[in-house]
Amino acid sequence: MYDVQKIRKDFPILSRKVYDKPLVYLDNAATTQKPRQVIQALVDYYEGYNANVHRGVHALSQEATERYEEARGKVARFIGAESPDEIIWTRNASESLNLVAYTWAQENIREGDEIVVTPYEHHSNLVPWQKVARDKGASLRILPMREEDNSLDMERVDEFITPRTKLLAVVHMSNGIGIINPVEELARRARAVGATVLIDATQSAPHLPVDVQGLDCDFLTLSGHKMLGPTGIGALYGRREILERMEPFLRGGEMVLEVWYDRATWNDLPMKFEAGTPNIADAIGFGAAIDYLEAVGMENVRDHEIALTAHALEAFKELEEEIDVFGPRDPERRGAIISFHSDIVHPHDLGTFLDRDGIAVRTGHHCTMPLMRELGVIATARASCYLYNTEEEIDALVDSVKRALRYFSDGAG
Ligand code: ALA
Repeated sequence: MYDVQKIRKDFPILSRKVYDKPLVYLDNAATTQKPRQVIQALVDYYEGYNANVHRGVHALSQEATERYEEARGKVARFIGAESPDEIIWTRNASESLNLVAYTWAQENIREGDEIVVTPYEHHSNLVPWQKVARDKGASLRILPMREEDNSLDMERVDEFITPRTKLLAVVHMSNGIGIINPVEELARRARAVGATVLIDATQSAPHLPVDVQGLDCDFLTLSGHKMLGPTGIGALYGRREILERMEPFLRGGEMVLEVWYDRATWNDLPMKFEAGTPNIADAIGFGAAIDYLEAVGMENVRDHEIALTAHALEAFKELEEEIDVFGPRDPERRGAIISFHSDIVHPHDLGTFLDRDGIAVRTGHHCTMPLMRELGVIATARASCYLYNTEEEIDALVDSVKRALRYFSDGAG
């Protein structure tokens, strides 16, 4: 039985007040809160075994190396990678995507090739491909979106994924509006034309089971802070045979095997891609976050969030005259992200109003400006939930939105 109150007790920040009101934290797509277990893992490292990894014979360095590599193993297991060597630590998902753009894509994309993305891409999974396309004389193709429910028009996919497609780079769950894309099906179509498949799972992996074998992808990105872990740590999954053929991204210490004045050879995976002293503490913290999520169970997290989404969509129905909620109405087809817009109040004003009620949401374009254009808005207000949110918090949100609409439509704004 899912005990949300028990989970909440693990998150010290959730008991704080904002403007004397209980904090209602609904900005989880931006970053998630951290359980005591993750915070403690950071403290344990700095207080108990702070040392550099892979560089010392002394006890502290051995212990740090062991815990750091153990964390890599946890990430590998969490997403079903064949080996921890297929997990490369990065600073965040943006760096993971840039790594692929600056290495694999520079080596493999040629003039006339096409890179296929969706309208939901975070700028991090769009802007790097714009540069690749420009540098290489390749082009970007954007899969079309259906106006009715803002989902991908799967009937037209064959017009876009063709033998010219060299890379399919698609987001699994949209951070902007929460829609879950049929990435298995897209990957299958891309494979059929011989394309490489990259899945941006930054927003999905924290909220539902993700398995790289089932998705049949070549690359997949993760971000620690979006899944209860610290900021400054992310991961790139890459299929071993592809990573082995790729050139390194950053060059320097530890990513080399042997160095002469005029040349060097590269270390084995995954070190080939990890130049310099890594973010040891936060990698270990990321591992602790995965332990936490696995103990709760990703299926349970997903079920809880489907229930929250259903509750939220139902509650927002009452406001359908004044508010547009983007994305499909079926909670199974989306994450627990409610992105909405009203002509009565600018999202930033709405966000400020909600904030005074202790409710944290994100307002703006959510680093998805092309998606906002597709939706015909410049910004939305976005409430994004996680495993510790409750139906009462959704009710508090809806109540505050109602009062905001009254306040601004009375001309008081
Ligand atoms: N990508 C993050 C968000 O959606 C920062 O808010």
